[in-house]
Parts: sequence; structure tokens; C-alpha cells
Amino acid sequence: MTHEIAVIPGDGIGQEVVPATLEVLEALDLDLEFVHADAGDAVAEETGEALPQETYDLAASADATLFGAAGETAADVILPLRNAVDSFVNIRPAKAYPGIDAVRPETDLVFLRENTEGVYSGIEDRLTEDVATLTRVVTQSASRELAEFACEYVEGTGRDGFAIAHKANVMRETDGLFRDTVAAVAEENGVETDEVLIDAFATRVCLDPTQFDVIVCPNLAGDVLSDLAAGLVGGLGLLPSANVGSDRGLFEPVHGTAPDIAGDGVANPAATIVSAAMMLEFLGYEEEADAVHDAVETVLEEGPRTPDLGGDASTDDVTAAVVDRL
Ligand code: NAI
Ligand code: MG
Repeated sequence: MTHEIAVIPGDGIGQEVVPATLEVLEALDLDLEFVHADAGDAVAEETGEALPQETYDLAASADATLFGAAGETAADVILPLRNAVDSFVNIRPAKAYPGIDAVRPETDLVFLRENTEGVYSGIEDRLTEDVATLTRVVTQSASRELAEFACEYVEGTGRDGFAIAHKANVMRETDGLFRDTVAAVAEENGVETDEVLIDAFATRVCLDPTQFDVIVCPNLAGDVLSDLAAGLVGGLGLLPSANVGSDRGLFEPVHGTAPDIAGDGVANPAATIVSAAMMLEFLGYEEEADAVHDAVETVLEEGPRTPDLGGDASTDDVTAAVVDRL
């Protein structure tokens, strides 16, 4: 069966790391059909729309989407695209690679972040010049969907359980509902859980990341804590992510357009290549996904490396080395 992949490089280094990733995917010779589409600052300047309707429709109908990054228009692009694929969970692995200079080389975490509501529900008001408000929405249904996914995830990856990160001691109704729902679903499924307050998590994960494995958390907490974990493992050029829905997914590096290096041909393609490996796994190509992971890991360890990791190789050099390893 042919899988249709929407390819949206976007702006800045998205135009470098996405083509690099396509070279890796093409080397695998799978039954994938790539359909290219525009989004981001450049298309907004040309047409007035950061996310053209045809790009949205393509993401909504393709089996999976590979996205690079958008610049100033990022929120106008990525939030609707996550909705287009009906994504209720953002999977963000933060893993230190052998040989890479990391603050905490022992880090190996996976954040399962609620992806539709919480503080990012978008319900904000400016009541007076002095006062602005935000309505935080938490639903049992979204918490349950995330928890069911988390249970399948830990079972599928052979783990014992997960930690629920929350702040229900203060936000009793919203995080209380989140915590209680997630814990109940875990119990129904016989999955062990721990609880950790998100502020305490921030300290504990820096001191000893091996205390944690899979972390299930509300939207904003997952955004912030996974970026903190990126700092522990050696930077943004390494962190992949997957936005997964019931039957579609959108796969993207955690980083942005990196205007400081865009156009220089030295962006680290690893984050996007590993995001594509997550896409392969999602589509059922598990062996190929493992092969891509292994190839990236070997190249990161042995080189060549891009300047963000202390090397002097180009994006093309690293990509060629990954293809070679495959
Ligand atoms: P950024 O992630 O683009 O860059 C932060 C730093 O990390 C820069 O020094 C950059 O050179 C470095 N970096 C990032 N990815 C790298 C890679 N693959 N290889 C080597 N170095 C890398 O974040 P920043 O500078 O805060 O944002 C730049 C633009 O990107 C903004 O316009 C922002 O709105 C947008 N952005 C878009 C995102 C998205 O589309 N999902 C996510 C984050 C930011
Ligand atoms: Mg973020």
C-alpha cells in the first residue's frame, strides 16, 4: 500500500533539513509518495496566508506529514496543522546520544504531552487596559484519550509505567481532573503510575534524569519541561517530535527556523531525520525506523558532525553519512 506523505519544509533551515531527510527516506526505497506544499513566512508574504487551504487539506488527508519549521508565522501554521491531523498527543523523546557532549548524558526520557487544550486552549481576553485573562480548559475526554495512548505506549515499548506530572495541589479542578482521569485509566489498564509536581520535576530531572522514563503531562508543562530536557541532552538540533492522532500524524523537529545559520548549509539534520524515523514507525515500517535511528546514532557518535555539535561538517556531509550507514 502506498502511503501519501505531505512534505512541508516551511522557512529557514526547514528548507535544508527537510530535503536532507527526504534523501534518507528515498534511500530506503519504500512505497511512499511525497507531495510537497508551502507554509510559513515566505508564502505569507507572497499570498497573505501563512497556511494556504491546499496545504491544510493535504495534511488533513495525507497518511502523515513531515514538517520543517515556520518563522514568525509559526503559531498560525503549526497549531492548525496539528488540528488538521487531529493530534491529541505530542510525543517528545529527549535522549542523550553516545559521544555527544551533554549536560546529563544519562538522560533518556519521553514526554507525552496533551496537545489540544489546557493553557493553550486559546481562550484569552483583554478585559480592561489593566486586566487580561486566560481560560484553561481541561476535559475528561482529552485526558482519557491521552492516558489510553500512554498505556498503549508503555506496553508497546516494554516499560513498567509512567509518571503523571501536574500541579493539582494548586490547580485543583483542572489539574485535579487531569491527574485523576489519567491515573484511573492507568489503573484500568494495569499500568503503574507515579505522580510528580511539575516544579519539583524541573529540579529532580536536572539532578538525576534517570529517576524518570515516560512523563505524561498537560500541554504547557510538556512544552516547557521537554525544552528543559533538550538542554540536558545537547541542544535543539537533536530533538524530534511526533504529533499523533487516531489515524494521522505530523512529524517535526522541535527546533525552529534558526535564522542565524539559515542558508549556510550547516544545520544539523538529525532532529528531522529522527522525526522521520518516528513517522516510519507510525506507518508500520518498524525495521526501517530502527535502521534510521541506528544510522543517526552511529553518525552522531563517529561523525561527521555539524558545528552545533562542535564539528565542521555540512548538512550534506551528515546526510550522506547517514545514507551511507543505511
Ligand atoms: P530556533 O530553534 O530556530 O533556534 C535556536 C538556536 O538553536 C539557534 O541558535 C539555532 O541556530 C540553533 N538550532 C536550532 N536548530 C538547529 C539545527 N537543526 N542545527 C543547528 N542549530 C540549530 O529557535 P528561535 O531562534 O527561538 O526561533 C527562530 C524562529 O523559528 C522564530 O521565528 C520562531 O517563531 C520559529 N520557531 C518555529 C517553530 C516551529 O515551526 N515549530 C518552533 C520554534 C521556533
Ligand atoms: Mg516549544
